[in-house]
Amino acid sequence: MAIQRHCHNEQALQSRSCPAPVSNVLPESCRHQARETISGWPGYAPTPLRSLQALASELGVSALQYKDESGRFDLASFKALGGAYAVQSEICKVIREASGLDIEIDQVHRHHEYAESVTVVTATDGNHGRSVAWGADRCGCQCVVYMHEHVSMGRQEAVEALGARVQRVKGNYDDSVHRAEEDAKANGWLMVSDTSWPGYLDVPRTVMAGYTVMSGEALDQWPLTGPPTHVFIQGGCGGLAGAVCLDMWSRLGPSKPRFIVVEPDPAACLHDSACAGRIRRVDIQVESLMAGLSCGEVSLIAWPILEEAVADFITITDDPVGPLMRRLAREESIVAGESAVAGLAGLTESIRDQDLADRLGLSEHSRILVFGTEGATDPVIYDELVMC
Ligand SMILES: Cc1ncc(COP(=O)(O)O)c(C=O)c1O
Repeated sequence: MAIQRHCHNEQALQSRSCPAPVSNVLPESCRHQARETISGWPGYAPTPLRSLQALASELGVSALQYKDESGRFDLASFKALGGAYAVQSEICKVIREASGLDIEIDQVHRHHEYAESVTVVTATDGNHGRSVAWGADRCGCQCVVYMHEHVSMGRQEAVEALGARVQRVKGNYDDSVHRAEEDAKANGWLMVSDTSWPGYLDVPRTVMAGYTVMSGEALDQWPLTGPPTHVFIQGGCGGLAGAVCLDMWSRLGPSKPRFIVVEPDPAACLHDSACAGRIRRVDIQVESLMAGLSCGEVSLIAWPILEEAVADFITITDDPVGPLMRRLAREESIVAGESAVAGLAGLTESIRDQDLADRLGLSEHSRILVFGTEGATDPVIYDELVMC
């Protein structure tokens, strides 16, 4: 069985409006600012919401919609919305302070002279670093990206192609975050992380605000009469899931869907935190094929959202990943990377287990939304998995 563990979160609130302590993590004003700014970037277009009707019929659910992020701004992942937006927002503050000018965030690109001496830094397993490097390139600042030893060469090259310097770090993703933070402090660099910790919350909040552009688009595009009944969303540090849950709950109120977070079993820090009723870290021993989800530390800012919003946390093995990527490629012409299919795999594997499907409330009436969060972000790995 690909599903390894399931934790039902008794604390999750169903049939209730989004409580203020949750919605205040990302107030509407900051989600609105993200939408206004990002929709003004050159080349912006909503990514498609695709109906997977054949798979829905096979699974015995009413509808299955797949938000396809493979074409997001040539970066091929939803992460383009977060890191690059946070870089622009932080550089705007730097320019305001250095110049005394009261510029708007969309005027940052006209003031490269103030950005040139600034270095932004981050840690990544691929996609977030690419987004930060892209944002730095557009804003005219320097960029250093920390990558742990298991990140593929293809992902390093994609970051370097945007002009950033890559610094390799021994260990795993969490080790690379700690090194980046230490070096940022030592060198006076600006840390633009997608995960958060005590005393470092504001930049990751901006990153998450960027992600809500994706969930907002998905609801605007939703083609069915009733809203989604279930959302299966993949979890790394939890920033993505937190942003999506908060945004959808704020918009849909008491008819919010049942949120189910899906993680790779060796890196299930969100699942373990839900079981324990408080934040727990995982010391990652085995790297998952779902590289973007291989995080052992929960984002502090995301947790208060997830513990109230998410009804279920499940963990999966890598087994369904390749077959689902191939199926989407062959039957739907969808390019889905390794981390993209985790939510979908959580659904297909839960339905194989009647008892679990019942516990998740899945039935022929279910209208399900999944987020295909990346395309072929490493084309070599993609081809190996899909062409076999
Ligand atoms: C493609 C993809 N999907 C999902 C995630 C998970 O996002 P988060 O770490 O914010 O939970 C990542 C993180 O890098 C990713 O690259």
